[in-house]
Formats: sequence, C-alpha cells, structure tokens
Amino acid sequence: MTSPASAASFRFRHRHLLGIEGLSPDEISLILDIADNYVEQNRAAEKKSSLLRGRTVINLFFENSTRTRTSFELAAKRLGGDVINMSTDVSSVKKGETLIDTAMTLNAMLPDVLIVRHPDSGAVKLLSEKVNCAVINGGDGTHEHPTQALLDAVAIRRHKKRLQGLTVAICGDILHSRVARSNIHLLVAMGARVRVIGPPTLMPSGIDRLGVEVFHDMKAGLVDCDIVMMLRLQLERMQGAFVPSTREYFHFYGLTREKLALAKPDALVMHPGPMNRGVEIDSEVADDISRSLIREQVEMGVAVRMACLDVLTRRHLSNTPEAAQ
Ligand code: CP
Repeated sequence: MTSPASAASFRFRHRHLLGIEGLSPDEISLILDIADNYVEQNRAAEKKSSLLRGRTVINLFFENSTRTRTSFELAAKRLGGDVINMSTDVSSVKKGETLIDTAMTLNAMLPDVLIVRHPDSGAVKLLSEKVNCAVINGGDGTHEHPTQALLDAVAIRRHKKRLQGLTVAICGDILHSRVARSNIHLLVAMGARVRVIGPPTLMPSGIDRLGVEVFHDMKAGLVDCDIVMMLRLQLERMQGAFVPSTREYFHFYGLTREKLALAKPDALVMHPGPMNRGVEIDSEVADDISRSLIREQVEMGVAVRMACLDVLTRRHLSNTPEAAQ
C-alpha cells in the first residue's frame, strides 16, 4: 500500500513537533488532510504501509498514558516502523539519571523519532535541543499536547466539515490543561470562536490574551455552541483545594443532558480522556453516540499520529535544502 501523503509533506518546515503555537494554518491543514487519508487506511483490511520501514521510533513517557502512548505505537507500526516503549518505572531514571542523560543515551542508539511525555512544561523542548532525531511532544506539564488538539480538529472537521466560524466551548480545569492550551492555539488559528468555561480558581490569568472569551457561568457559556469540549479535573496537579468538592464541581460545571440542551441542537460533545464520570461529565452524555465524539477521538488519534510521523520523517529523509534547516 502506498502512503497517502504526497510531496506536499515538504510544506511542513519544522524539525520537531513541540506545540501547536508556531504552526501556520497551512501546516495544521496539511496534517489534518494527511490524517484524513490515514483514517481510510486504518479502516481498510490491510492497514500497513512502509513509509517508516527501517526507521526506529522510541516512546519515552515520564507520565502515565493509555491513549497517546498506545496510539503512537500503533501509528508507527502501521507505517512499518520499529517501536521501543521506554517505561521510566523500570529505566535508569529510577537510579537518578537525568532527563538529558537519558535522552543522550537514547540518541546514541540513533532513533529517528522520540515521542516524549514529561510532567514539566518545557522539558520536551529542552530535550529536543540535545538530540539529532525528530522529537514529538506527547504532553509536557501544563504547556501543550499538540497531537491531542490535532486529533480533536480532525474529529470536528469530519462532522462539521469546517473549523472556521464554529463556536467551541472548552470547559473545566483550564488552568492545568495542556489540552486546552493546544486546542486554543489551533482553533483560534483556524478561525473558530473559542470560549473557555470554568471556576475562577481553575482559569489562568490573562487567558483572554489568547483570543478566547472567558465564562465562569457554564449555562451562559454553553448557549449556541457547536462543540462542547470537557476537560478532566487534574487533581494530581493541584496542591491545595481548587474546588470545594467534586460533588459541588459537578453541580456547577459537570456536563449533563440539561446543560447540553443550552448548546445548539446538533452540538457535539468531546473529552480527551481519561474521563472522570460524575465529576466533569455525566455518563448519559458521554455514552450518547448521537452526541458524543469521545470514542471517535481515540480512533482519530492513531491517524493523526501517523500523519505527524509522516510529515516529520519525510522531512528528515528529504535531501531538499528545507530539510537541512
Ligand atoms: N488524552 C490523553 O492524552 O490521554 P492519555 O493520558 O491516556 O495519553
């Protein structure tokens, strides 16, 4: 099977994918278009192609993950690459090895792509400056999770046929959410109207400078939205009490059928996962296949990660002057 991507991949001018911030609308559209083609490849009986044959991809995750780590592994394998999964629990990180020494050690084994997730914002960029291969940010602290925003955009675009002009509400723990930040950068760049909804304690100061409208009253913020994107309450990143109780949080900010009725009648519900049912979202909404894109987001994750590996590795394999940048 031939790869669906074309020479257009060379329009992607970056060596790494560290965030959505800094990508042009053209570069974002390129990844979304390539991902759409990989959705079709993944739905076919023969799912494998050979773009990454002979290439090595290392998953280096310093934080837990189900979706991102597994879908990157599947994406690389579907493109014919070899994949190593590094679990930091059983690596020499446990013996005190630093992030940079770990990265330099892996770099010496000549991988082609490193996928990195790290609890500290900026750690993935720092690592990318020390290695020769392409680096993809699998989520760094509260900073960015670029492949999540890209897969969300593919899911939205396939249903709504556009991003421009849509009203998207991102709801919940905005303060600790790298998913929110990447989605805001992407959706604003692509011409969507973005609202962020959450309690004042979970809203970063100055968030309006990213081009979003801020709401603390969920019922007001949901009115006439096309997309309702719920976020997990990230209790593991909270030192101290940011909400009085999860029960009260659900009352004011949990998505129920009643609150969803305030959005457009054809509004769709999204969640990056993992979900806390009964905290930020009611099961009745999450499991309603006529409104919820949550399972489809997971499917799109594999295709988007294939597209990201595609644009980065083609650039590396190219002898064009752009590739030397
Ligand atoms: N959405 C997301 O990043 O999920 P994982 O933490 O399971 O990778």
